[in-house]
Amino acid sequence: MKHFFLFTLLLSSLLQAEKLDGKKVFETYCWGCHHQTAMAFGPPFNQIAEKRTKGEIIAYITSPKSMYKQFGYKRSVMTQFHLSNEELDTISDYILSFKGKK
Ligand code: HEC
Repeated sequence: MKHFFLFTLLLSSLLQAEKLDGKKVFETYCWGCHHQTAMAFGPPFNQIAEKRTKGEIIAYITSPKSMYKQFGYKRSVMTQFHLSNEELDTISDYILSFKGKK
């Protein structure tokens, strides 16, 4: 019983350490085309954060092909991703954290 308790404790701390963070999602999927505050192939996160809500950001990542017109683009070249809800949540918060940053 005592061992089981210790094991659970260890496991939960491992899970804590493995917890997704937005920066990791960004580095894995987005970094090639977006930078935090500098223009790259796609617009920088501080600019996106200035004009979009969390819902809009998630909608765009989920389906750029159906959102680009509404966002004012003539076409979309962004990759369509299939991220988990958790990844979408953390990456959109990460983008919004650059609001007002230069
Ligand atoms: C292949 C390059 C590429 C990758 C990879 C990419 N993007 Fe994009 N993204 C673009 C481009 C270019 C645009 C401008 C509109 C378009 O072409 O769809 C854009 C637009 C966006 C927008 C809307 C910008 C606005 O006007 O508000 C969001 C939000 C966004 N990207 C988030 C992400 C996130 C988050 C990731 C990673 C999960 C990502 N993008 C990965 C190229 C990319």
